Amino acid sequence: MTKIRAAITGVHGYVPDYVLTNHELETMVDTNDEWIRSRTGIEERRILKGEGQGTSVIGAEAVKGLLAKTNTKAEEVDLIICATVTPDMPFPATANIVADMVGAKNAFGYDLSAACSGFLYALATGAQFIQSGTYKKVVIIGADKMSSIIDYTDRATCIIFGDGGGAVMLEPTEEDLGVMDSILKSDGSGAPYLHMKAGGSRKPATVETVAQREHFAFQEGSTVFKFAVTNMADVAAEVMEKNNLTSDDISWLVPHQANKRIIDATARRMGVGDDKVMLNIQRYGNTTAGTLPLCLWDYEPQLKKGDNIILAAFGGGFTWGATWLKWAYDPK
Ligand SMILES: CC(C)(COP(=O)(O)OP(=O)(O)OC[C@H]1O[C@@H](n2cnc3c(N)ncnc32)[C@H](O)[C@@H]1OP(=O)(O)O)[C@@H](O)C(=O)NCCC(=O)NCCS
Repeated sequence: MTKIRAAITGVHGYVPDYVLTNHELETMVDTNDEWIRSRTGIEERRILKGEGQGTSVIGAEAVKGLLAKTNTKAEEVDLIICATVTPDMPFPATANIVADMVGAKNAFGYDLSAACSGFLYALATGAQFIQSGTYKKVVIIGADKMSSIIDYTDRATCIIFGDGGGAVMLEPTEEDLGVMDSILKSDGSGAPYLHMKAGGSRKPATVETVAQREHFAFQEGSTVFKFAVTNMADVAAEVMEKNNLTSDDISWLVPHQANKRIIDATARRMGVGDDKVMLNIQRYGNTTAGTLPLCLWDYEPQLKKGDNIILAAFGGGFTWGATWLKWAYDPK
């Protein structure tokens, strides 16, 4: 029997209009444009403004564009998985809210929480439903409104994160294309270094938790940096070795956009040149689950059928992983 693979048949992204520059951040915390550029590679990030605007707005805009460009009727979608750590609310799932916003009446949906690796985890999960022959059209969203959990008095985090995301369509193919292999990992002992202290079942919201600013993302940056730089590079190399891929075989590295220095280390470890590395950190910062689909969306016009692409991520949890993808279509 021919093996069914899950091919990405379209990608679309969305970033809000408001641009938060390094210079504006200089007016908010003790930082400067030169430090942020040289230590992270970030020049600006986008912020979703407006009352009642949640991550679903980002997800729905990305999915609407995706349905249009893949000529898909909303009713045809079987499943929507939304990777996010900033859901509109703890429940219902943001995926369900997006399904309602785009009119995907026949889809079921759920959210997946794996921080910056969320899109990779969701892609692997969605691919299983396609490969098993269960579903024909699966939408994978990676989106975050990080500004909703960022403390704009904390220079350790507010300079890095931004809002945005994207979505891909997964469909079955009998060609040797699509999601080829994934290595996904997690280590819960990393939680103390990157987490949100309050607002969950362990420490529900109180007047005190709000006063102590515990509903914001906390990051011990230098510790996370050390883990990220080693693990993201190692897992990217591991997925290549496992599949006998050399750097010459790789058309693109799609790295999580958290810090340009982590991206450079991963590319070096894989032996791929800068010209093969997707990069938009300078414009969007770290959009958590949003970075990988936003990169694919930005670079889509340059991608060709059969391109070997390595996606790699590292994030809170700790979570990390790498996926080998064979791009399934030429520029349209
Ligand atoms: C957050 C991060 C950019 C900080 O960079 P860093 O080089 O580790 O910086 P450090 O925290 O060691 O601080 C270095 C110095 O810069 C200062 N500094 C820290 N943040 C600063 C800022 N925003 N502006 C100016 N100076 C700053 C520190 O006070 C310190 O000064 P000192 O040497 O006089 O004590 C970096 O650690 C990082 O990218 N971490 C990983 C992020 C990540 O991958 N997350 C996972 C996915 S979300």
